[in-house]
Amino acid sequence: MKTWHVIDLIEWTTEYFERHEIPTPRLDAELLLGHLLQKSRLQLYLSFEMPVFQGALSKFRELIKKRVDHTPVSYLTNHKEFMSLNFYVDSRVLIPRPETETLVETVLQHQKDSCRFVEIGTGCGAIAISFSHHRPDWELIATDLSTEALEVAQQNALTHNCADQLTFLQGDLFEPLRELPNPRFDWIASNPPYVGTGEASILPLDVREHEPEIALFAGPDGLDIIRRIVTDAPQFLNTDGKLILEIGCNQSHAVQDLIKSQPAYKHCEVIKDYADIERVLLASV
Ligand SMILES: C[S@@+](CC[C@H](N)C(=O)[O-])C[C@H]1O[C@@H](n2cnc3c(N)ncnc32)[C@H](O)[C@@H]1O
Repeated sequence: MKTWHVIDLIEWTTEYFERHEIPTPRLDAELLLGHLLQKSRLQLYLSFEMPVFQGALSKFRELIKKRVDHTPVSYLTNHKEFMSLNFYVDSRVLIPRPETETLVETVLQHQKDSCRFVEIGTGCGAIAISFSHHRPDWELIATDLSTEALEVAQQNALTHNCADQLTFLQGDLFEPLRELPNPRFDWIASNPPYVGTGEASILPLDVREHEPEIALFAGPDGLDIIRRIVTDAPQFLNTDGKLILEIGCNQSHAVQDLIKSQPAYKHCEVIKDYADIERVLLASV
């Protein structure tokens, strides 16, 4: 029987993924094999001639099958890096995207002192936990409508030793904040669902078939949740408080109009991501 070595498996899988139109075939092959053998990509490169035996081969075959079925690599490895921190992810949560780091970096630039901060729609907790990592003196609250997502976020908060600093609340947008003795914050942040229901067919299959619908879609124009956040946020902001939102590619003008239509907001600023796309809106009251 043929003995498979690390390099043979990487090359065979890359070619198989290419045939199945997986967009980053070599990278995915390396990430999946590295996950299975518990090796970083560098360690994998240093182990090209290492034989891989039957038990591992059958598990690898399963991973390959799922990847060809467009299961995202991060759900197969249960891992995503965000702001250079490691997060557990599975199909209960949206996989944090690199462009969302723009929101986190913008807040970190603007706010050095202690503050009260709430994130709406925390998913796996990547945004709130990043703030906890960089600003251990902030009071942090993170909400989500999905109890399943909050389970993942809580697990990540434990791993990052910030469960004491970060309070998770379940409910629809601002509803859970109404129960708090002090429902006012210096910052409200959200990367809300913002895909239009009509845009489902143009989403990559990985996203459309595997990531939670509740994390993606927000009505016909994708603005249903953003509209509600922009309208209600001022009631929950302190004087000079700030609302920061991630938005979709073509939503900048529509969301600026929404903000301008609310007299409570004094300023509104647009921030581009690393791909030069208007990605974040920062408004202050
Ligand atoms: C685009 S995901 C963002 C997740 C995470 N914050 C991130 O940036 O990776 C949107 C999140 O909002 C949550 N969500 C959707 N509708 C909501 C609502 N009405 N109230 C609170 N959270 C909601 C979803 O469950 C999901 O976790």
